[in-house]
Formats: sequence, structure tokens, C-alpha cells
Amino acid sequence: MPTKVTIVNNGAIRIEGDIILQDSEGNTYGLGGRGVISLCRCGLAENKPFCDGAHGRGGFNSLCKARDLPPPKPKL
Ligand code: FES
Repeated sequence: MPTKVTIVNNGAIRIEGDIILQDSEGNTYGLGGRGVISLCRCGLAENKPFCDGAHGRGGFNSLCKARDLPPPKPKL
């Protein structure tokens, strides 16, 4: 079962599945057994990288429709 990532309109990035979340140093966040987490994409959360609902209070506005990306550029 693939991990599902949902870009929530005016809100977080919701991730469902078998999640391993690491910081930039490779340390793993303890998720307390959660199979669903929401990551902040508005920049307003006090508990980054997790969403804490601040996007609603801050009036974050971002509607993202699914689309196809172009193929990646060849590596030189
Ligand atoms: S997306 Fe929810 S607090 Fe930033």
C-alpha cells in the first residue's frame, strides 16, 4: 500500500501510511504510532514541522489542483 500524501486546500500536507519522518540530520521523529500526520505548509505552526491549526487563524490561502509535472531534466 503506497503512502498517500494530500495537499489540503488552505491547509496542511496530510500523510497517511507507513511513515518515517526524519529531520535534516537523519534523526527520526517519534510519531507515537500514528498512521496519519499533517505537516505545516503555511509556515505559521509553532510545532513545526507539524500542523497545529495556525493556518486557519492566519488566513493561509492556497488552492492546489493536481497536475502533471514535466519529465525531469537529464542529469549532466
Ligand atoms: S498548515 Fe496548518 S499550521 Fe501551517
